[in-house]
Amino acid sequence: MTENGKFVPMDEIARQSAFADKVREITEGKGLCAYVITLGCQQNEADSERISGALVSLGYTVTEDDSSADLIIINTCAIREHAERRALSFIGRYKHNKAKNPDMVLGVCGCMMAQEHRMKQVITFPYVDFAFGTGSMHRLPEFVYTALTKGKRKFIADPDKMQICEDIPVLRKSGYKAWVSIMYGCNNFCTYCIVPYVRGRERSRLPKDIIAEVRELVENGYRDITLLGQNVNSYGKDLEGKPTVADLIKEISRLEGDFWLHLMTSHPKDATTEMIDAIANSKYCANCFHLPLQSGSDAVLKRMNRHYDIERYLSVVDELKAKNPGITLTTDIIVGFPGETEEDFQRTLDVVKRVRYDSIYTFIYSPRKGTPASEMEEQVPEDIQKERFNRLVDLQNSISKDFNDAMVGKTVKVLVDGKSKNNDGVYMSRTENNRIVHFESDEDYTGQFINIKITRGDTFALYGEI
Ligand code: 5AD
Ligand code: SF4
Repeated sequence: MTENGKFVPMDEIARQSAFADKVREITEGKGLCAYVITLGCQQNEADSERISGALVSLGYTVTEDDSSADLIIINTCAIREHAERRALSFIGRYKHNKAKNPDMVLGVCGCMMAQEHRMKQVITFPYVDFAFGTGSMHRLPEFVYTALTKGKRKFIADPDKMQICEDIPVLRKSGYKAWVSIMYGCNNFCTYCIVPYVRGRERSRLPKDIIAEVRELVENGYRDITLLGQNVNSYGKDLEGKPTVADLIKEISRLEGDFWLHLMTSHPKDATTEMIDAIANSKYCANCFHLPLQSGSDAVLKRMNRHYDIERYLSVVDELKAKNPGITLTTDIIVGFPGETEEDFQRTLDVVKRVRYDSIYTFIYSPRKGTPASEMEEQVPEDIQKERFNRLVDLQNSISKDFNDAMVGKTVKVLVDGKSKNNDGVYMSRTENNRIVHFESDEDYTGQFINIKITRGDTFALYGEI
């Protein structure tokens, strides 16, 4: 696999495989356990499942208990300051585990580690054995070997030379829900966003690798499969023959199975009629779509470098709704972007009222070092950001409540997630558009589709009976 130098070369894979053999000689028979913490988005969840798979192949058992772990990996996120603070607090916490067990190995990886200034900071923590950015996961055997043999600590950010590695095994957390990365990286450089700097340029996996992965999941009875990428609409632009996400949807729709197919996430500027038609014609595509708005003001969108205006955005919304009757939409919105005026914010509220999203992910703008927006003048004061954030959340809550009320009396297909944590005998499940549905049951239907008659709804959840 050498297309455009996009894949990790075979000689590097062989080098890592030799390290893996040496690690297994050390770990064999010792019953060592590893614990992986994931911060951030589904892409990170997917990466952690590969890190876990790699650790199993190195002789570790992946556990849910950090106190007894012989190896801990913290997979970090850099999207907002809050995420970075959480990562630092985890790193600090495991310093104490290491004090108790000096042979414990502590590694840090993910988006935060792809930033030079964060890498420099982490190097100063002597209890961290290695750290690597999002492009070096395939080198885990080498990093673990070096740590186990007390070699020189390794710190590799390398955000530029990122390649795809198809040879890392996956250990999925769930037996019925799966993430399938179809591409990595982003070319868009929205002015607030750190992702293009920490995940590199867009790299698409080959269709045959994606389809083989999905086919295996379907054959193994997976019920919910999400095709993942920072911008799935631009899938394949870097590949020979320029396959599209619509081609993937069509190919997957030819498989025999019983599952929901989700896409996450997309960019309105690249949403094509071909993709919308493919969703409409697929028997597996869930009738929901995530279409990040970010702001309802053309002026703000321009400063965000989003390459669409509200007219274009709404035309995609209308096409999605016209071709997929009953489709529900979700979105991401940033409030308090530099220079956002009350009038700009009102435009965001107007779009929310017009589209009537099922739910929205609302974020207060967080300046990211090295991004253009962090240097823009007119940063919005925190109290105004918070006040706007609350108004937006209140508006969406009333819309969500209306949607949930309207569901009462209807029967919906749900995928059961398992027992509710704080309510005995109650199970939690989700509809195809991710609405939470609670119901009581004596039988455990976890991982199965069942039908629930909705009896009650509140802002955040629905309640019903089998
Ligand atoms: N501040 C606040 N929110 C951000 N997002 C991305 N970067 C930032 C930032 N600097 C949000 C966007 C994106 C979502 C994943 O996170 O809304 O769609
Ligand atoms: Fe960030 Fe924009 Fe790329 Fe999304 S499309 S990852 S918001 S730069």
